[in-house]
Amino acid sequence: MTVYQQTFPLNRETAIPAVGFGTYLISQEDAKEAVRAAILNGYRHIDTAEVYENEESVGAGIRAGIAEAGLAREDIFVTTKLWQGHAAWGQKLKNEEETVAAFNGSLERLGLDYVDLYLIHAPHGGAERLNQWRGLLEIKRLGKARSIGVSNYSEKHLEEIKAAGLPLPDANQIELHPWSQKPELLAYMKENGIAPIAYSSLAPLSTWRAQPGQDSAKTEAMKISDGVLAAMAAKYGVTEAQLLLRWGAVLPKSLNPERMRQNIDLGGFVIDAADLASLKAMDRGDGIAWSIGDPTHTD
Ligand SMILES: NC(=O)c1ccc[n+]([C@@H]2O[C@H](COP(=O)([O-])OP(=O)(O)OC[C@H]3O[C@@H](n4cnc5c(N)ncnc54)[C@H](OP(=O)(O)O)[C@@H]3O)[C@@H](O)[C@H]2O)c1
Repeated sequence: MTVYQQTFPLNRETAIPAVGFGTYLISQEDAKEAVRAAILNGYRHIDTAEVYENEESVGAGIRAGIAEAGLAREDIFVTTKLWQGHAAWGQKLKNEEETVAAFNGSLERLGLDYVDLYLIHAPHGGAERLNQWRGLLEIKRLGKARSIGVSNYSEKHLEEIKAAGLPLPDANQIELHPWSQKPELLAYMKENGIAPIAYSSLAPLSTWRAQPGQDSAKTEAMKISDGVLAAMAAKYGVTEAQLLLRWGAVLPKSLNPERMRQNIDLGGFVIDAADLASLKAMDRGDGIAWSIGDPTHTD
């Protein structure tokens, strides 16, 4: 096993581990053990959110993992996210003060003094969107979040921050995989020093959230495999999931112990130029894990 310990710079002070452990759809009951096991398997970045309703248990897992692996708090990169409110779901939009209060609630539930990255979960903040960003800037100023960013923001939302003369986010966490490559958004982010963090990297797998009752926008057609990823993975002697995860800064979620190990065992191969070109040609445009315009999705 070759644990992949690559990091990427996030801002002048912070580096982010390329592979993080995702915890969406991991219950409060399961999260402690899952996060503990992830840390013991070499994960050094844990991703949660207020809206995942598992922060207490994720925090307990971080403490257990740190203690058992003989690590320090500084060795683990912790991300959590503001639930900004969503008018389409009848929710109040958080203002600046409520944003800071929500952050303090997350910190308390996690049982931490600081997080490494705090994100606005989605650009649903409407008239409060900029005030929510002002809240995050204040949290960073207080040193309670080492870096701050957004998630699911388009160029339009990032431009809004720029036009207000405010510092830009350190990162934008977005759905990114060969079927959803967002080249224009990525180019804009690169130009403006905003790091991409990929979620739902495994979405092209035919089995991805395919079980009944799993939250997914995946259509029957998307469950059909054309065999291209399987052939490429076989060439490198890895699984299709490992191939997809080797492609960027990612956050795989798995409750399956073998898959949890496999998903960070990425250091033993490099995707060659021809295969990178083939992957580039697979873009289908739209995100499939969570469409921002669709108010029925819960992440
Ligand atoms: N900011 C946002 O709006 C946003 C949105 C979505 C996700 N995220 C973050 O990103 C993380 C990852 O995204 P995600 O949970 O949507 O999807 P994902 O990690 O791409 O895929 C998870 C699914 O793939 C399965 N899986 C995991 N490893 C596998 C492997 N090696 N082979 C085959 N199947 C495998 C998992 O099942 P098993 O557990 O049974 O292995 C699970 O059903 C989330 O947990 C969350 O932290 C953020």
